[in-house]
Amino acid sequence: MILNETIIEAYEKGLKAQSYSYSPYSNFKVGAALKVKGHDEIFVGCNVENASYGATICAERNAVWSSVAKLGKQELEFLIVITNTADPSIPCALCLQVLSEFNDGDLPIYLANQDGVKNLVYLNELLPRPFSSIPKEREVKNE
Ligand code: THU
Repeated sequence: MILNETIIEAYEKGLKAQSYSYSPYSNFKVGAALKVKGHDEIFVGCNVENASYGATICAERNAVWSSVAKLGKQELEFLIVITNTADPSIPCALCLQVLSEFNDGDLPIYLANQDGVKNLVYLNELLPRPFSSIPKEREVKNE
């Protein structure tokens, strides 16, 4: 995969955010970096865990919250997810649902680890049917 400069710059920023991951319970360190359309800034996030496990927040959602806090609701351009694992990981279903609210579905999601960016997937292949999207083509007709 050939990466452009923007992706490489975002990966470096996401890697730094990953180094701040607060994950003493899982040791699964996640960093995320995203760009919204029409703005140059890269927004980052890391996972932040809590002794009350359910209070944990994922890196991807932290990055989304950060962009919304700065610019309001914007269309996402791309997301990079960095994990400290040999095989990179896709975002969890909760994060996919959140991402779907800020993108029409063609969002490129780059999957990375400490060694670099490894895969490219798209939001609509990971979550073809977000909550509240009705499959019109499979409507049931009640005669
Ligand atoms: N985690 C993320 O940051 N992103 C995901 O998409 C899945 C999981 C975090 C939450 C928790 O801190 C740790 O990874 C293990 O689930």
